[in-house]
Amino acid sequence: MATTPASSAFSFSFTFFLLLSFKTANGDVIKVQQQQLHFHTVQLSSLFPSDSCDVSPSSSETQDLNKLPVFHKHGPCAQAQQLTRSTNNHKPTADEILRQDESRVQTIQSRSRKAAAAAGGDVMVTDSTTIPAKDGSTVGSGNYIVTVGLGTPARQLSLIFDTGSDVTWTQCQPCVRSCYQQQEKIFDPSSSASYRNVSCSAASCSALSSATGNTPGCSSSTCVYGIQYGDSSFSVGFFGTEKLTLTSTDVFDNFFFGCGQNNQGNFGGAAGLLGLGRDKLSLVSQTAQKYNKLFSYCLPSSSSGTGFLTFGGAATKSVKYTPISSIAGGSNFYGLDITAISVGGRKLSVSATVFSTAGAIIDSGTVITRLPPAAYSALRSAFRQQMSRYPLGQALSILDTCYDLSKYKTVSVPKVGFLFAGGTEVDIEAVGILYANSPSQVCLAFAGNGDASDIGILGNVQQQTLEVVYDGAGGRVGFASGGCS
Ligand SMILES: *[C@@H]1O[C@H](CO)[C@@H](O)[C@H](O)[C@H]1NC(C)=O
Repeated sequence: MATTPASSAFSFSFTFFLLLSFKTANGDVIKVQQQQLHFHTVQLSSLFPSDSCDVSPSSSETQDLNKLPVFHKHGPCAQAQQLTRSTNNHKPTADEILRQDESRVQTIQSRSRKAAAAAGGDVMVTDSTTIPAKDGSTVGSGNYIVTVGLGTPARQLSLIFDTGSDVTWTQCQPCVRSCYQQQEKIFDPSSSASYRNVSCSAASCSALSSATGNTPGCSSSTCVYGIQYGDSSFSVGFFGTEKLTLTSTDVFDNFFFGCGQNNQGNFGGAAGLLGLGRDKLSLVSQTAQKYNKLFSYCLPSSSSGTGFLTFGGAATKSVKYTPISSIAGGSNFYGLDITAISVGGRKLSVSATVFSTAGAIIDSGTVITRLPPAAYSALRSAFRQQMSRYPLGQALSILDTCYDLSKYKTVSVPKVGFLFAGGTEVDIEAVGILYANSPSQVCLAFAGNGDASDIGILGNVQQQTLEVVYDGAGGRVGFASGGCS
């Protein structure tokens, strides 16, 4: 192979460029620099979690910012907290994860179709009203865990946090019907001085209809909530109020939550769920006086890392914002307007209407980003073209573009960028482009929707290591790179 002195330092990338260009040495240098700009150089090993928990310094030493550490529910950090050790909570395979993900997505999409139908019909839909046609099941249960305190004295509970649902709940004694196995002791309202039942006639009880999609029940004048998730998990129980302790300085009295008496499903040993959606019963709305509906998180780059969830502010200064679009998916979701996608620095030739027809949301609980079919096929062909030096491997469930990288230590991966309304450009980190099942099956971590009208979803694989800021009062969502560090 012929190399010039100037390009020898970049010989790895240069090899690739010889395949595409036959320019002079000078032209090659420029192209090599562009290559550096538009490609990630990825250590293959960095795509796999380690067996032990890497606690990042930011999540443990920044008490002043009130950051709650965030773990993946199946990773070693959750294990360190003894969440997944029980025999019931086996570590799911990639196939199982992607199948559960698909059922969450199906639920979100059916909910959003109904919301769209309601908006187009006689029913007025505003940000705060109930969507009458809403599905009775909410989305699958999400993947990331934080620990909060509940009751007096405060009991520590690890909950899955979810921007795609609203009601916070935990399993409660006496587990009248059934509780699944969780690692922490199950919350017992009778040993808390601050627990109160909500009565059936309370306004907050009626508010459950819009928050859960289910009409609340009534049992000896106590309000009964029920939530089903798309993956057929559910929680049913008494609706109550409690003292919620997020951090030592951030304590909320009379926080509405579900005290689950019949719980089943796929919660990975977590004690319940923290609802961060936009409905008025969500944690975000209930704490609006203090935090002004502002929160942010960073999801760690692997299941062995830690991130954070914080309320009332953003940790990073250089956050780029785009407006929340309120129609997409119904008023409980955080809607986004995607306007374009680039691969390796080149904008895909997909018309903006492809994105606007479907609309999109951002969701902490969906794993793989879903795109309109035309957008996904353009992304896939651009990606395949720019990855053509690597051998294709076997498809993995919904992921149809996989590579056998078992012979490589380092790979050069085209950058993927999203352009949002307002001109906001967000580069997806390398860990958000590839979903690695094994070195011989490393896949493009995006999928196409079945129908052009299905809503797009920015999933949590793509959000990894970005700080994502939800500014509900300001009506905007923001992104900052390098968020977990
Ligand atoms: C809450 O209501 C349920 C059902 O009526 C009842 O069994 C339970 O004892 C009540 N708890 C409190 C603390 O009042």
